[in-house]
Parts: sequence; structure tokens; C-alpha cells
Amino acid sequence: MATSLAAKHAKGKKLKDVIFVTSGQAQADAKAIGKENVLNGTVGSILNEDGNLVFLKTVKEAYLNLPDADYVGYAPIEGIPEFLEAVQNLCFGNYKPEGYIRDIATAGGTGGVHHLIYNYTDIGDEVLTADWYWGSYKVMCNDCGRTLVTYSLFDDENKFNHVDFQAKVNTLCEKQDNIVMIFNTPGNNPTGYSIPEADWDQILDFLKTKASSGKNIIIGVDVAYIDYSGDKEAVRKFFKKFGNLPKEMLTVVCYSISKGFTMYGQRVGAMIGVSADKDVADEFYEINKMTSRATWSNICRPAMKTVVNLVANEEKYKAYEAERDQYDVLIHERANIFKEEAEECGLPMLPYHGGFFITIPTDSATEICEELKKDHIYVIALANGIRVAACGIPKRQMKGLAGKMFEVMKRLGKL
Ligand SMILES: Cc1ncc(COP(=O)(O)O)c(C=O)c1O
Repeated sequence: MATSLAAKHAKGKKLKDVIFVTSGQAQADAKAIGKENVLNGTVGSILNEDGNLVFLKTVKEAYLNLPDADYVGYAPIEGIPEFLEAVQNLCFGNYKPEGYIRDIATAGGTGGVHHLIYNYTDIGDEVLTADWYWGSYKVMCNDCGRTLVTYSLFDDENKFNHVDFQAKVNTLCEKQDNIVMIFNTPGNNPTGYSIPEADWDQILDFLKTKASSGKNIIIGVDVAYIDYSGDKEAVRKFFKKFGNLPKEMLTVVCYSISKGFTMYGQRVGAMIGVSADKDVADEFYEINKMTSRATWSNICRPAMKTVVNLVANEEKYKAYEAERDQYDVLIHERANIFKEEAEECGLPMLPYHGGFFITIPTDSATEICEELKKDHIYVIALANGIRVAACGIPKRQMKGLAGKMFEVMKRLGKL
């Protein structure tokens, strides 16, 4: 056995990240045979039609024109006040829920999910999410001694599976008092699915019954892809539903500027708590602020200031929205090419409404992805499917991709 000095809880920890590994392989292949000959569907960032990483021009201009103090100065632990105000408007738009709303800056959307897990469950507890989930949820749960459990997101008709969701919530209620769940909508990673409004009503009605039976219900909503999930108003309407919930229910929205402002590496986001009870909202603020101090201290000032300055200037903000929306349209166009061709050839695909990714369900993802690599096609093998990054594949390469995947799956007998 290898010598280990790690503490008991840390022994054997190792990050296995299939996304970064596959992305590295795609890049090495592109270096060897030319970028235009490789299809890189691995990345979770927007690439333009030339395959280059997009930094929105409007954001870049704001970012590069800050006073020195804003590049290097510390920010308050909870975030810059104007940023915290801006974030509530950016996130909720015209659909701010009623109630006590508090927010703090976090290290990307990731930071908010981390605090949510850490501060609202106890060691040994389970956290609930859908079976189509972003892998980091599990990593974060495991790293702090929690377990991620899942319900089937879809029923037989690819609609929200209320039966399984309710069953899994009921099971959790038998084990623990705090029920923490993470919904990644709109534009779920990896499927692109957004929970429809009527399903939200059903979800909340059910959760209210659990709250009235003495459980604390904490609804995490990860909206990392909200700005690429279609009509700005339509995708925000559901936020209103989080107002006037029982005081035993808390909504925690994890917001990120990584995608919406193309500032992935700047590590800025916010967690926004919504409660009908002032004490619950104040507690949310204090406990999460304390955890921020104990983990990363404070958040990147230049990126927060960039957002603040953009939002403060109506003209610039409009230009920013228009520029970003062009990429929303582009990603939808790419996804539609895939969707239409998948339908034509009979390739199964999960419902896509928005966001960066498309998913093909299969139990043989690794085998299929290895075969696709021989054709210089790099997509991500998940436990239950294959993730294709619509955010990064130019339209010319998107054309024909569904057919190629269909052929490979057929050849391997996986259809
Ligand atoms: C589902 C989901 N949530 C949250 C994030 C948060 O990203 P960040 O921490 O960069 O804001 C991502 C990024 O890939 C994601 O896919």
C-alpha cells in the first residue's frame, strides 16, 4: 500500500475528470492533424464558428477599462454591494419573487452550490438531484462527506418524472430533516432540458406538503445556463413561484457570470436566498458569508466591477445583451441542426430546450466515444449517455454529426 499522510476523510481522494481528459486528447489531435479536421465537442465554453473561444467584445471593453484599484484591490467578503444589487436584477429580471432576498458573491456558480451543500446538510446526509446532472455536484458532495442521490429526470414520455421525484423525496424525509435538492434549469447540463412551469407548480405543491409535515425544504436552483436558454422573459417566469412559500422552505438560486458574461476563469457568481421569513434570509447571509471567509475569502474584484459598470450604463448594457443574444441564437441553430438530423436518421436524443449541451442516451457511451475518436470526433462519455457541446461545435461540423453517431452506434449494435 502506498504511504499516505492524508487525514481519514481525505484518503484516496482523486479527481477523475473525463471532460478535461477528452478535451486534452482533442487538442492534441488538432495540433497533429489541424484544427479543421477535428470535431471538438467537449468544451463547456462558447467557441465561435472559427473554433475560437469567445470573449464578448462589450464585456472585454468594460473589463479592460477599470481603474488600477479595481484590478488589484480586495473586495468585501460578501461581494461588492453594487454587484449584489445588479445580480438580483440580472438573475430575476422582471420576475423577482416576493419575500426576503439576500445574496452573496461566490466563486462562480460552483461556489454557490458548494455552500448550499455544506451549510444546509450535515455530514452523512444525502443531497438530491436528477439522474442527468453536472458531475461536480457529486464531487462537491463527496468532498464534504455527503452523498449525492438521484431521481429519474424523465418519465417514459421524456416529461418530468414526478413519480420518481416524489418517491425519492419521501425516502429522504424518512432519513433526515433537511431536504436539499439541486435543480439545474433552464438548459440543464447535460441534456438541455428546462423544467416547464406547470411542472414547477406540481413540484412546489408537493414540497409544501413535506414542509408542513415538519421538514426543512431547501430548493437549490442552478441557473448557470439561463442566458442561453431562449426568451429572456419566458425562462425567468418560474422565479415568481418562489415567493410566499412556507417559512420552512428556502430557495437558493446559484447564479454565475461564467457563461452569461463569458468570464469563466474569473470565478464569479452569486448565491441568492429567497425566503418568506426574515430570520431564515438573514441566517442564509451570515452562514454563507462565514463559509466564504473560511474557503476563498473574497471574490475577484475586476470581474464584479465589470458587471457593475456594464449594468450601470444603459447603452452599453443593451449592446452587451444584443451581442450575447447572438450567441444564444447561434447555439440554438447548432443544436437544431443536430436535432433535425437526429430525427431524420432515428438517433435517440433527450429533450433540448436550451443551454450548452445535447445528450444522446446510451449505456455504452465509453465504447461509442472511443470509436468516434478514430474519426477525430471528441464528445463526452457520461455514465448514461453521450454529451455533445453545442456551444463549441461550428455549424459546418455539426452538419452530419448525428448521422455519424448513428452509424457508429449501429455498427456497434448499440441502437
Ligand atoms: C450545471 C452547471 N452549474 C454550474 C456551473 C458553474 O460554473 P462556474 O463555477 O464556472 O460558474 C457549470 C459550469 O460548467 C455547470 O455546468
